[in-house]
Amino acid sequence: MSEWLETAGRRFARLVTRAVVARPWLWRVFRPLMRAQFDRLASIWDARRGPEAYAALEAAFDRLDTEPRRVLDVGTGTGQAARYIAARFSTVEVVAVDQSPAMIEEARRLLPDEIRERVRFEVADAAGLPYAEAAFDLLVLLNMIPFFDEIARLTAPGGSAVFAFSSGPETPIYTPPATLRERLAPRGFDRFEEFAAEGGTALLASRAEAG
Ligand SMILES: C[S@@+](CC[C@H](N)C(=O)[O-])C[C@H]1O[C@@H](n2cnc3c(N)ncnc32)[C@H](O)[C@@H]1O
Repeated sequence: MSEWLETAGRRFARLVTRAVVARPWLWRVFRPLMRAQFDRLASIWDARRGPEAYAALEAAFDRLDTEPRRVLDVGTGTGQAARYIAARFSTVEVVAVDQSPAMIEEARRLLPDEIRERVRFEVADAAGLPYAEAAFDLLVLLNMIPFFDEIARLTAPGGSAVFAFSSGPETPIYTPPATLRERLAPRGFDRFEEFAAEGGTALLASRAEAG
C-alpha cells in the first residue's frame, strides 16, 4: 500500500473516531466507508502487528479480580486479541465481532484448532449488537471506536471493559481516558485504572456488582 494511502487512511480513521464519539448517530454516515477501508486492509493487517500491540491490554488483564468467563472482543479485526484472550484464560468463551466481512474471514482463517471451540467470530456492528443485556463479564476494545450505550448494556454487573490503544495517543482510532471516564461514569462504571506499556495505553473500567 502506498504511503499516501496509508496516511490518508489513518487520518480518516482519526476523524471518524472523533466525530462518532462526539455524535454517535454519525456512524451511519461513515459505516460504508469504514467497512471498505478495513475490508481492503484485512489481508495485510495481521502481518503488520507484533505482540507489543497488546502489551497495555495484558497489563490491564493482570489487574482483573477474577478470570473472565464470557468475553466480547469488539472490532476484533483479524482476531489477534481474541486469540490472545482464549490462550491466556483457559476456560473463557470469546465472541469477537467486526463490521468488516473480510476481517472476520481472515480472523476465522487464522484461528488455531486448539481454541476453535471457545472462540466465535461474527460480522456485527458495535453500534447495535445482537446479544442480550449483561451477556459478557468482560468487553475488550483494542484500537476501536467506543459505542458507549452498547458497552454499558452488554457488560454484566461486576464486569469490566478494557479500552486499549497499541500506540497510545498516536493510535489513529484513539479516545483519551478522560473522555472514556466521562462517558462511562454516568453509565454505571465506577472504578477506573490506567496502564501504559510498550508505547501503548489502556483503561480498565469496572462496574459494581448488582444490589
Ligand atoms: C483499527 S482496527 C483494530 C482491529 C483489532 N482490534 C486490532 O487491534 O488489531 C478497527 C477495527 O474495528 C472495526 N470496526 C470499526 N467500527 C466498527 C463497528 N461499529 N462495529 C464493528 N466493527 C467495527 C473495523 O472494521 C476494524 O477491523
